[in-house]
Amino acid sequence: MSSQPTPAGGLAGRRVLALGKGLSALADGPFAGAHLEIGGLERLSALGFADAELIVIDADAWEPQTLELIVKALAACPAPPPALLVGAHLPTAVVRGLLRLERSDVLDAPYTDDDIASAIAALMVDTTPVSAPADGAVARCWAITGAVGGAGATTVAIEIANALCTRQAPAKDRSVCLIDLNLADGAAAAYLGANPTMKLAEFSQSAERIDAAMLQAFVTPVSKQLDLLAAIRDPSAFDTVSREAVLRVLEVACESYEWVIIDMPRHRRAWTLEALGGCDEVLVVSELTVPALIAARALSDEIDRAPGSDRKPRIVLNRLAGRMFGPAPSMSEAEKALQRKAEAGISSDWEAAAASVNLGGPIATHRPKSKIVKDVHALVERLAAEPVRRVVQPQKAA
Ligand SMILES: Nc1ncnc2c1ncn2[C@@H]1O[C@H](COP(=O)(O)OP(=O)(O)OP(=O)(O)O)[C@@H](O)[C@H]1O
Ligand SMILES: [Mg+2]
Repeated sequence: MSSQPTPAGGLAGRRVLALGKGLSALADGPFAGAHLEIGGLERLSALGFADAELIVIDADAWEPQTLELIVKALAACPAPPPALLVGAHLPTAVVRGLLRLERSDVLDAPYTDDDIASAIAALMVDTTPVSAPADGAVARCWAITGAVGGAGATTVAIEIANALCTRQAPAKDRSVCLIDLNLADGAAAAYLGANPTMKLAEFSQSAERIDAAMLQAFVTPVSKQLDLLAAIRDPSAFDTVSREAVLRVLEVACESYEWVIIDMPRHRRAWTLEALGGCDEVLVVSELTVPALIAARALSDEIDRAPGSDRKPRIVLNRLAGRMFGPAPSMSEAEKALQRKAEAGISSDWEAAAASVNLGGPIATHRPKSKIVKDVHALVERLAAEPVRRVVQPQKAA
């Protein structure tokens, strides 16, 4: 098995051997970006499985006896790659043989591309150990939330997470986890060109089942340093995912990574204040418009006044333009409206922001010279150098 992290986009760059011609239909879906080989039995007798990082077998393409041979050949490999068997007719003996392998799964038709992508993500979970904080410590955890829709919270959260990855020299593998808590329709995965794989609804009544190993099944590796926890799109997720499940994910992530960055939904949920209570920084991202500043002030006051809150949120003014189009508040007018100082400003750079979401990945990767990158780095350096403000441990799920 490869110890490389699964790149963003699931199988990008991975060698996938698909046994069964019908599987070529998945080339632009769950297999997108993979080095895909559609093979038959001759492929196995020539090369075996040794050079594949994932085997997907179409059960409907082969006779049961042939399937048994394939599974036997896999079992005989010293380190078999993960294997996924899909189809409408799954012979029991074949399924049982396959499931004896260390990493294998079966999908009974009908299934969707998302089902396949989730099964593959769980099979390809990276085995590089996560960089956990020192014994007994918890991650430094920062939450980023928008004052108004579209203020740039997700963009800023991604750039902060990415900047934290590169700030340590040498860069530590798997030290930062970005968690998108916009459970219904979060954009972080799409911005990063990654496949979201977190499904929390089924843990709503049994949050205690979420442990470090389970968390890893939900993780999408984005780079060697950065992991993403983002939910599969589900319009009812805010109703079906319990407070306990969300808080448990945060708790386990804080025990598993050195840094946890949360893209926090703007509207308050049952778990919002407790989640913020476990963070040592809360950043409210606003634009430099009058309505956004009013909203930023109101949201910051609400977080300030929340019971148990012992920290002042910091306001980040996003999309600062050198030359504003039309009348816009100056920085000092903005601070007057906010009734507090802004922590930082981030320049506007539409080209860089659009290019990075279209290409999939942080702005720092696609437009490293953008002023956004420079501004976010300065913010991260300043905040990271400050003493940790948190006085409470992350809240435990009841
Ligand atoms: N500094 C910036 N310069 C130019 N464009 C930006 C900047 N920051 C964000 N954007 C762009 O603004 C748009 C909204 O950004 P983003 O999705 O991050 O906001 P959000 O607050 O997370 O929105 P939502 O309320 O939908 O969660 C995106 O198209 C993004 O690329
Ligand atoms: Mg967002």
